[in-house]
Amino acid sequence: MSLSQIARSISPSPTLALNEKAAVLRAKGDPIIHLGGGEPKSKVPMDAIMSAVQHLNTAEIRYAPADGIPALKQAIIRYTQEHYNRSVAPQNIIASSGAKQAIMVALQAILNPQEEVIFPSPYWVSYPDMIKLCGGVPVPVLAEDGSFYPNINDIELRVSQYTKAVIINSPNNPTGAMYSEAFISDIVQFCESRNLYLIMDDIYHRLIFDGRRPLSCYKYAKDLSESSKLIVINGVSKQYAMTGFRIGWAVANKKLIEAMTNIQGHQTSGPSILLQIAAAGAMNGIQSSVENLRLTLENNRNVMISRLKAFEGVKVYPPDGTFYTFADFSAYEKNSNKLSNLLIDKVQVLTVPGKEFGLDGFLRLSYCGSLKEITEGIDRIKWAIDFNSPNELYIGDRKLVRDWS
Ligand SMILES: Cc1ncc(COP(=O)(O)O)c(C=O)c1O
Repeated sequence: MSLSQIARSISPSPTLALNEKAAVLRAKGDPIIHLGGGEPKSKVPMDAIMSAVQHLNTAEIRYAPADGIPALKQAIIRYTQEHYNRSVAPQNIIASSGAKQAIMVALQAILNPQEEVIFPSPYWVSYPDMIKLCGGVPVPVLAEDGSFYPNINDIELRVSQYTKAVIINSPNNPTGAMYSEAFISDIVQFCESRNLYLIMDDIYHRLIFDGRRPLSCYKYAKDLSESSKLIVINGVSKQYAMTGFRIGWAVANKKLIEAMTNIQGHQTSGPSILLQIAAAGAMNGIQSSVENLRLTLENNRNVMISRLKAFEGVKVYPPDGTFYTFADFSAYEKNSNKLSNLLIDKVQVLTVPGKEFGLDGFLRLSYCGSLKEITEGIDRIKWAIDFNSPNELYIGDRKLVRDWS
């Protein structure tokens, strides 16, 4: 079979593959614990459901404008005012099929072949492949001090004549690190001074802990005119637990949004009108579900971190937000794929190997499930790799005996 060069350079999404694996094993009746997930388990807000049902009942579900329906754009304008203290016009907004598509269309609109995009490492699994899909070159940057918090010098050192954009995701998937106000201010001003696009992937910006407040990148921008190269990405997937609705958006200058709309118009004609109406319903409705989710996640994080800290040899970095923690298991096994496979095969716990995020020896563990899943999942991992624990473990009434070393 003859496939394009681009198709051959793209790997499957490891996190989506893991979800499928979990579903298959569950269907087989295996007592799976999924600590690899990327979606909250709370219910979709009732306002979203009611809005969608009302529209569905008209039995007229039609095409929508390629850049999004006015009602959703109005909700995004209000959101941007409330959470970023920034007034934008409808022409500064495009709604897409998830934040993922908003990022993808932005990259398609700005990248020429061989142009480079810099992003801190560890990074969200999709960035490198999205950049490659546009013919661009991904440039992941590890902080020189070995932390999950880059500084501006780390980024500056990697800038070349081919650099076109920087992507910042804070709080970060997979580490949960929320970057400091000083770093956000530095990166906004640095990109302005070098005339680079800055894509702020803010998909987790309200899911933060310990009294932290979301940051608005606009506060640090000197240029807020229509020539600004700041692109802010957000969506309903995580904060409203609406992953299956596939609605995200980008806010940027009008010319760029127009170019993105042209691209999206030929790709999908824009997201489904029904799902846009649901997203607007959630954003205009009662907001308590977001705070409830945030509180639940903060409590889950505390439980997972205290459990992991009791685990000798594992290095833990308490996350500032999101629903992931990125722990260093290299004292047990340096090859994270091997470790992740062992955990699935032996104790039916799904984790994501750190290698997928640019750092081997680590595992990404999600705490978006129930407390029972978190505690039992960590206990099973401990039993599987810590040979000081008893030789036998019960999963339900099944007795496991450790037969590996
Ligand atoms: C950092 C980051 N950006 C974007 C997305 C995509 O979000 P959506 O489901 O809205 O496409 C995800 C989803 O996992 C993510 O972790």
